Amino acid sequence: MKQLFKSIWVWLDDRIGISVLLKPMKHIAPQDAKWWYVFGTATLIAFIVQVASGVALAFSFIPSSSQAYETLVFITNDAPFGSFLRGLHYYGASAMVLMVGAHMAQTFLFGAYKFPREMTWTTGVLLLGFTLAMGFTGQLLRWDQTAAWSVVVAAEQAGRVPLIGPWLAHFILGGNTIGGATLSRFFAIHVFVLPAVMFGFIGLHLWLVLRHGISEPPTAGKPVNPETYRREYDELLKKSGRPFWPDLAWRDVIVCTGLIVAIALLAHFIGPPALDKPPDPSVLDADPRPDWYLLWYFALLALIPNRIEGYFMILGPVLIGLLLLIIPVLNHKGERAASRRPWAIAVVCLSVIMIGSLWIEGQQSPWSPNFQALPLTEKVIGATSGPVFEGALLFHDKACLNCHLIQGHGGRRGPDLTYIADKLTHDNMVIRIVNGGNNMPAFGSSLKPQELDALVAFLESCKRPIRPQDQGPMARK
Ligand code: HEC
Repeated sequence: MKQLFKSIWVWLDDRIGISVLLKPMKHIAPQDAKWWYVFGTATLIAFIVQVASGVALAFSFIPSSSQAYETLVFITNDAPFGSFLRGLHYYGASAMVLMVGAHMAQTFLFGAYKFPREMTWTTGVLLLGFTLAMGFTGQLLRWDQTAAWSVVVAAEQAGRVPLIGPWLAHFILGGNTIGGATLSRFFAIHVFVLPAVMFGFIGLHLWLVLRHGISEPPTAGKPVNPETYRREYDELLKKSGRPFWPDLAWRDVIVCTGLIVAIALLAHFIGPPALDKPPDPSVLDADPRPDWYLLWYFALLALIPNRIEGYFMILGPVLIGLLLLIIPVLNHKGERAASRRPWAIAVVCLSVIMIGSLWIEGQQSPWSPNFQALPLTEKVIGATSGPVFEGALLFHDKACLNCHLIQGHGGRRGPDLTYIADKLTHDNMVIRIVNGGNNMPAFGSSLKPQELDALVAFLESCKRPIRPQDQGPMARK
C-alpha cells in the first residue's frame, strides 16, 4: 500500500513538479527573524479570506440597482451562512487593512526597505493603495442608503478638485448621478480589475521576498553598505540560516490561525454591519459615512477649510503616496536599527496618533449640532399615537434630534440613541435628560412631567430589533 502511494506521488511529482513548486517554502531565512515578521503572512491570509468569502458572496449577489439591495437582504437573512459570509468579508477587510498597516510600520521601523529591497517596498505601497481602493469600492456594493450616499459625497468632493474634478466625478459615478451604471462599474472594479491587479502584485511582491530574502533583524551600528551587503547576508544565511518551512514558519501558522479564528468569531457573534434602508435619492437627511478604515480621511476632509478641500482631497493622497514610494530611493543605505533612526519612530507614532484621533473625530463628528434635522417619520418611530409617538415628536421639538441620531436621522453631537434602551434604564434616562451632561444641556426646568414621561417612553422603544436569524431555524420563512 505504502509502495503504491509512493509510486503515485513520484509519478505525479515528476509530471507536475509539485516539489519544485513547493521549494520556495524551504528557502533559507535568517533564524532570528521572530514574531515581528508575521504581519506579511497575516496580510496574505486575510487577502485569501477575502477572495474565498467574496467569491461565495458573488454567488448570490446581483449587481443591478433594482436587485442588489434585495439580494443583500436575502444573503443576510435567508441564504445558508449568508450573514456569516458577509461578516467574514467585512471583518476580513478590516483585518487586512490592520495587517497591512502593521506590516508597513514594521518594515519601515526595521529599515527593511533599504538596499536591495527597495522594490519590495514599492510594490507593497501599491498594494496598500489597491487594498484601500477595494474597501472603497466594496462599500458601495452594499447598495443601501449609507453606501450610496458616501459615494455621492465622495463624487461631490472629487468634483471640486481643480481641473480634473468634473471628469473625476463623472468617472466615479459612471454618469452624472448615482445609479445602475455606478453599481456595475464598482462591481467590475471590485471583483475583476483590482483583484487581478492584486494577484499580480502579490506574486511580484513574494517573488521579490524570495529573490532578496527577508531582511535580517537590524543591529545598531551595522549600517547597510550596498557594496558589501549581499556578501554579508549570504554569510549570515550560511552561518545561521534555517529553512522557512518547517523550521521558521510555526509563528506564522499560529498567528494566521488566530487571525482566521478571530475573523470567524466576530462574523458569528457580532455579524456584518446592519443594512441601512435601500438607497432613496429623495431622502436628504441620510447620514453618510464610510467604513472605519476610510472614516479618518472623511473626518479630515470635513475639518479642513472648504477653500482648500478640493486641492487637498487629491493632492493629499498623491503626495503621501509619492512620499512612500520614494522613501527607499532617497534613503537606501545606512543604519537600519530604529534606535539609530529616531525620526522613523516619530513618523510611525505621529501617523498612528493622527489617524487615530481623526478616526475618533469622524466617529463622533462633534463639530456642530444638525439644525436642519427633520421630524422623525412614522416608520422610524414605529407608532402613530400614544406616548411613544408623542415622545418622538418632542424629541424633535425640544431639539434632542439636533444632537442625537435615531436610525441615521438627526445630528451627531451627542451619542447615537438608536439602541439606547439596550444600554440605559428608565431612571438613568430621566437623570440624564433632567441634568444634562458634557455638552448636553439640562432639560429639567424646560420639560413638564408628562413631557419627560413621553420622551422616556420614546427612548425606551429605541432598542435592537430581534433578528430573524437569532430565533432558530423555525422562525425563518
Ligand atoms: C446640544 C446637544 C444636545 C441636545 C440638544 C441634547 N443632547 Fe442628549 N447628549 C448630548 C451629549 C453631548 C451627550 C453625552 C454627554 C456625556 O457623555 O456626558 C448626551 C447624552 C444623552 C443621553 C445618554 C446617552 C448615553 O449613551 O449614555 C441621553 C439618553 C440623551 N442625551 C437624551 C437626550 C434627550 C431626550 C434630549 C432632548 C430633550 C437631548 N438628549 C438633547 C448632547 C445633546
